[in-house]
Amino acid sequence: MTGDDGDTRAIVLRTERLRVTVWTAGDADDLHRLHSDPAVMRQMTTGTQTRAQTRARIDTWIAEHAARGWSKWRVEDATGGFVGRAGFGQAHHTGHRELGYLLAPSRWGAGYATELVAALVRWHFSHPDAGLQSDLLAYVFPTNQASRRVLVKNHFTLLGPSPHAPDQLVYIRGANPLRRAAIDGVRASEP
Ligand SMILES: CC(C)(COP(=O)(O)OP(=O)(O)OC[C@H]1O[C@@H](n2cnc3c(N)ncnc32)[C@H](O)[C@@H]1OP(=O)(O)O)[C@@H](O)C(=O)NCCC(=O)NCCS
Repeated sequence: MTGDDGDTRAIVLRTERLRVTVWTAGDADDLHRLHSDPAVMRQMTTGTQTRAQTRARIDTWIAEHAARGWSKWRVEDATGGFVGRAGFGQAHHTGHRELGYLLAPSRWGAGYATELVAALVRWHFSHPDAGLQSDLLAYVFPTNQASRRVLVKNHFTLLGPSPHAPDQLVYIRGANPLRRAAIDGVRASEP
């Protein structure tokens, strides 16, 4: 599709109401409105970000997508309106993909994140990366009840505080949620 700046955006995936696309350099203003909003960024480890930082992150995501086919992507509605960002990073210590999402406050409470995460989980398992673990991780602050609910609704299992970032909880999603839950039950009982 064509963005406001005339650049062509490739669509990565579609949900019932949303499209996930690659970024163009012209998307920085839309994303900066979210990245500079304390009410949005209090749930993100980075905190608020400057326009230059946001621009640099978009450049990184464009380069990552071009190099390996996955990254954090732009999210839009059926008319191309900006909804937020979502996709994957690489967990620093474990060799897993790490799920991330952030939506504009005007879009909260409509089930968009739940719909998006379901599609991203499907994308993850249908696009394995040979260099990474097969399961999908998500990190969340304990107070972020909305995000935790989104993960639970998508069959993620709570592992507990992250060993590498103890102020955050880590959730895991295996290809088979029932098997995953059983494995995690065993792990949880280990010292
Ligand atoms: C977290 C976020 C993505 C949720 O997006 P959303 O589209 O509103 O989420 P959904 O509507 O799909 O689902 C939210 C669920 O949480 C529930 N919820 C919302 N606020 C809640 C709260 N304070 N306590 C308990 N549950 C809450 C909703 O009721 C809903 O569950 P339900 O469908 O069972 O009723 C969005 O708030 C956001 O972008 N926040 C800022 C960035 C962020 O936190 N990103 C995630 C970092 S891990």
